[in-house]
Amino acid sequence: MPALPAVQVTDVRKRFGDTEALSGVGLEVAEGEVVGLLGPNGAGKTTLVRVLATLLPPDSGTARIFGLDVVRQAAEVRRTIGLTGQYAAVDELLTGRENLRMFGELFHLSGRQARRRADELLERFDLGHAADRAARTYSGGMRRRLDLASSLLVRPRLLFLDEPTTGLDPRSRNAIWDVTRELVAEGTTLLLTTQYLEEADQLADRIAVIDHGTIIAEGTGDDLKDRVGGQVIDIALAAAADATAACALVDGAEATDDPRRVRVPVDADDALGALSRVSGALAGAGISVRDVGLRRPTLDEVFLDLTGPASTAGARTGNGDDAEVAEDTDAAGEPAGVGRAANAAGDDAEVPDSTHVDDEDERRQEVA
Ligand SMILES: Nc1ncnc2c1ncn2[C@@H]1O[C@H](COP(=O)(O)OP(=O)(O)OP(=O)(O)O)[C@@H](O)[C@H]1O
Ligand SMILES: [Mg+2]
Repeated sequence: MPALPAVQVTDVRKRFGDTEALSGVGLEVAEGEVVGLLGPNGAGKTTLVRVLATLLPPDSGTARIFGLDVVRQAAEVRRTIGLTGQYAAVDELLTGRENLRMFGELFHLSGRQARRRADELLERFDLGHAADRAARTYSGGMRRRLDLASSLLVRPRLLFLDEPTTGLDPRSRNAIWDVTRELVAEGTTLLLTTQYLEEADQLADRIAVIDHGTIIAEGTGDDLKDRVGGQVIDIALAAAADATAACALVDGAEATDDPRRVRVPVDADDALGALSRVSGALAGAGISVRDVGLRRPTLDEVFLDLTGPASTAGARTGNGDDAEVAEDTDAAGEPAGVGRAANAAGDDAEVPDSTHVDDEDERRQEVA
């Protein structure tokens, strides 16, 4: 009998007032697979994770975790999953070490096991030196690392990480990537959301791009590049003043952030022909070029192409800003904690009530 998929989502919809956060999501993740859920701000990533983690019931559609229904079998689902939410959920008054031991108790580890695992994780996440300081004195990145460590006290069969490295410096990001890879090597299935294309490409076997509440593309980084059209002609002009003329002259040419650079997405099958036509046209018009090259699109270009400028424009600003807000946010009401506690405590935890939803909504407005 084939193994049950770790995640199986069919036509899931979720509406908040006028906003349809999920409008018919379908997604499957096999056991042991790492899937990166990639999408711009407001795409529906967190909403989908919350549905899968039993924190939010869908309006319609079904979601199953290892065959278990997230609504009807929520308690069983919670025993198999771990979650690190988008906003850090640590107890400010406790030290880092105490935070981890507390989660150890929730997960029913013995005192000795909890101590040992806590020490290991503190070391692993480079928090050893601050282990006995109250978490309120931690920087944003330190909190984030502690938060993640606390979802790893017991190895979950399926782990959800909602933007695990937003706001972290490169070293902390690498540390988190390493730990994540170890977990995966030990057999944990991972669904992570991210806005960092590099992260999705580095960690995930497969990327699912979500926008406006639906999955709009799926595949490896390479598949997605192929889907968008294969190749890009990169033109470096001698003079920025020629950019407008070059764009007018060459079909499909687009200006870039660099005033001297123009790019032309072309069909992979006809890339060389296109390159020679474009070079000829520019030379014919007397436009001097410093460099012309053919390359694969970057994942950033793929992302922008798939999601379109409109989806990224109106939403919240970049990762840096978000991270700051996340760090300032009082995490007490954040469902991430509920998810972890739920994992440990099993049946007692409940789907958060509308208070949670409203809290989050308020936070969103602060951010917007
Ligand atoms: N509790 C809520 N109440 C009202 N609207 C909500 C709520 N949660 C999400 N939304 C809306 O649903 C949409 C999807 O939000 P979601 O948090 O899932 O996006 P996201 O992809 O996680 O975005 P980000 O990258 O900014 O974290 C957004 O338009 C958001 O404003
Ligand atoms: Mg989110």
